[in-house]
Amino acid sequence: MRYKSQSVAYWYFAVAMVLFGLQLVFGLLSAAKYLGPDPLLQFLPFDVTKVIHTNLLIVWVLTGFMGATYWMVPDESRTELHSTKLAYIQLGLWTAMGVTAVIGYLFGYGTGNKLLEQPLPHKLVIVICMLIFLYNIGMTIKKSGRFTTTEGVLLLGLGSAAVLYVPALLHYENYTVSIYYRWWTIHLWVEGVWEMIQGAFLAYLLIRLSGADREVMEKWLYVIVGLVFIAGILGTAHHYYWVGVPGYWLPIGGVFSALEPAALAGMAIYAYNALRRSGLSHPNKLALHWTLGSAIFTLFGAGLLGLAHTFPDVNKWTHGTLITAMHGHAAFYGAYAMIILAMITYALPRMTRRNEEGSSIGYWAFWLQLAGMFGMTLSFATAGIAQVYLERILGMGYLDVQLKIQVHFLMLVATASIFALGVGLFIFDFFRHAPRFVIDEPDPALTTPPTSDAAL
Ligand code: HEM
Ligand code: HEM
Ligand SMILES: [Fe+2]
Repeated sequence: MRYKSQSVAYWYFAVAMVLFGLQLVFGLLSAAKYLGPDPLLQFLPFDVTKVIHTNLLIVWVLTGFMGATYWMVPDESRTELHSTKLAYIQLGLWTAMGVTAVIGYLFGYGTGNKLLEQPLPHKLVIVICMLIFLYNIGMTIKKSGRFTTTEGVLLLGLGSAAVLYVPALLHYENYTVSIYYRWWTIHLWVEGVWEMIQGAFLAYLLIRLSGADREVMEKWLYVIVGLVFIAGILGTAHHYYWVGVPGYWLPIGGVFSALEPAALAGMAIYAYNALRRSGLSHPNKLALHWTLGSAIFTLFGAGLLGLAHTFPDVNKWTHGTLITAMHGHAAFYGAYAMIILAMITYALPRMTRRNEEGSSIGYWAFWLQLAGMFGMTLSFATAGIAQVYLERILGMGYLDVQLKIQVHFLMLVATASIFALGVGLFIFDFFRHAPRFVIDEPDPALTTPPTSDAAL
């Protein structure tokens, strides 16, 4: 750790880890319900377990983004945070919001707007937390007078994510209008501004882990961010095919969303090249695994599996089926879960007694998660293909089809258990080293100029 105030990141990561574990409990509960008689039906029906599963996901990922930002900004701006007190107040408010929202869902208290189910008071707390956060980070950078491109992209992503939450605060009676604006938040988050956040963390990690030349890395960051933006904004239309808006959205959605994987391929190539050229010399190879893993799994889950159902001719069959769940899991995990796990793995040796190289538990956590998530993706895919065929091509009833595809949920539960074991090990590895906040030597990546073959 180079700055004392970076220690706040540890507590954000700790909260994120607990919520991640809880998210999986509700994921497994949701999956188990597909298998047959549900003893919990009266107290904890599927809609409740699923809403808690997806909301915990959003809350822990945002907690992770905040922690990683509090870790990265002092490093980049070479200064202490403006106020650690504000950062802790924000964490307290944020955690209370997340926990009470989950308790509320248990009692059916929510807005019913998928992924944005938070009741209005909770939404307002989210806005307050985001404002505190952006103020704290903004003041830190202003005070230091050092503002890097990587930080700029991160801030643009975080600031835009806050602005794009505004449509979620509004309520529309008309379902078409309501769903039209819902995507301004959800789609433009995951396929627009959150990509900037992922891109910025990726650049930060690659610069530090590979010693790659900052100027070259940041130039590429601009290109990727530009591509994501151009394709992602009009790509929103791939959610407008069947919601009751004019037909011209069909070709717009098909063409522009099909361009999005190009940016994701660019990001994976960029990460791979940076690491290959620098010779993988950094001792924290576990963080390298997570970093490169995130870039590659995003290309698979978001790029390839997104492309698989983004054209209207395909989407008219697959829309709202388990094909969507297949892609949703792989994309979210690769892009946002893995990049946070990469930031944690990079930062942890500086905040605890964990050694730089990591342990075999850390590697087991990585490979079990990867194998488990890959298996889960295949399970959802096979279930989804059967569902589309039986329900939409042969015209069988929805519930009859659910019985036919039960077998795929056995595979889902099995692979999800492998995945959950990997997450369990990651969480165990996180908490088994007590925090230790001491100021180390400056990061060598910042003092040694890169050699010519370290540059891209
Ligand atoms: C990291 C990036 C991405 C993430 C995290 C992500 C996640 C998701 C999630 C969670 C959904 C379900 C949303 C809902 O129904 O409420 C979804 C839907 C969808 N995604 Fe993505 N996605 C990403 C990138 C992409 C890309 C690049 C494409 C296209 C090339 C794509 C194509 C689609 C399509 C077509 C749907 C609608 C499925 C349907 O009609 O049911 N996604 N995505
Ligand atoms: C133990 C591991 C997990 C299990 C068993 C599990 C299971 C499930 C199930 C059964 C659903 C409901 C699907 C449906 O609507 O029929 C679901 C939804 C979802 N899960 Fe998971 N999940 C797990 C982990 C994760 C992780 C790690 C992520 C993200 C990083 C994630 C993201 C999502 C998303 C975005 C949805 C909504 C998808 C949609 O709207 O189609 N899940 N999950
Ligand atoms: Fe989308």
